[in-house]
Amino acid sequence: MIPVRIRQARAADATSVADLVHEVYRPFAVGFRPTALTWSGEAVRACASSWLLAHREDELVGVVHQTPDPAGHTLDALAVSVPWRRRGVGTQLVAAVEDRALALGRRRMVIALRDSLGANIEFFTSLGYRPTQPFPPAHHLYVKEIGARE
Ligand SMILES: CC(C)(COP(=O)(O)OP(=O)(O)OC[C@H]1O[C@@H](n2cnc3c(N)ncnc32)[C@H](O)[C@@H]1OP(=O)(O)O)[C@@H](O)C(=O)NCCC(=O)NCCS
Repeated sequence: MIPVRIRQARAADATSVADLVHEVYRPFAVGFRPTALTWSGEAVRACASSWLLAHREDELVGVVHQTPDPAGHTLDALAVSVPWRRRGVGTQLVAAVEDRALALGRRRMVIALRDSLGANIEFFTSLGYRPTQPFPPAHHLYVKEIGARE
């Protein structure tokens, strides 16, 4: 695992965040319309503080959007730049989101994962997320209880 620096985004980061999200999610658009592609620079800017950024030195290598949700704390648009994958960047971003959730007093994470994205499911399963119920169309909800974390 390579350590990355994780910080909250600022309005000035919005364009780079949207660019990375679009670079990462555009390849999925052949099979379906990824919700992540609705994130424009303007939309990111409007809620910049709810984005976390991962930097390796000066390079932006990953981003994630995270928000409280009635069913648990949730995240979306998780994106790790292709050359930086399988080095623990995604794991560190999700851990940072879980830390935010804990700091807000939340004890449960919940995310909707598309059934056809096996790698994505393997990633979240490796982090302790477990499927609960169908989330139509074509998704299941995955939950992780985080209260017991050391
Ligand atoms: C999914 C994603 C965020 C993972 O980021 P990452 O930094 O590569 O993940 P990590 O290095 O932290 O992986 C941790 C573990 O998850 C699992 N995993 C990660 N990517 C995987 C893949 N492509 N196939 C199978 N398992 C995978 C592995 O168990 C991995 O541990 P290992 O490398 O020691 O085997 C990244 O591949 C990505 O940006 N994908 C495109 C966008 C996406 O699907 N986002 C999630 C939607 S919310």
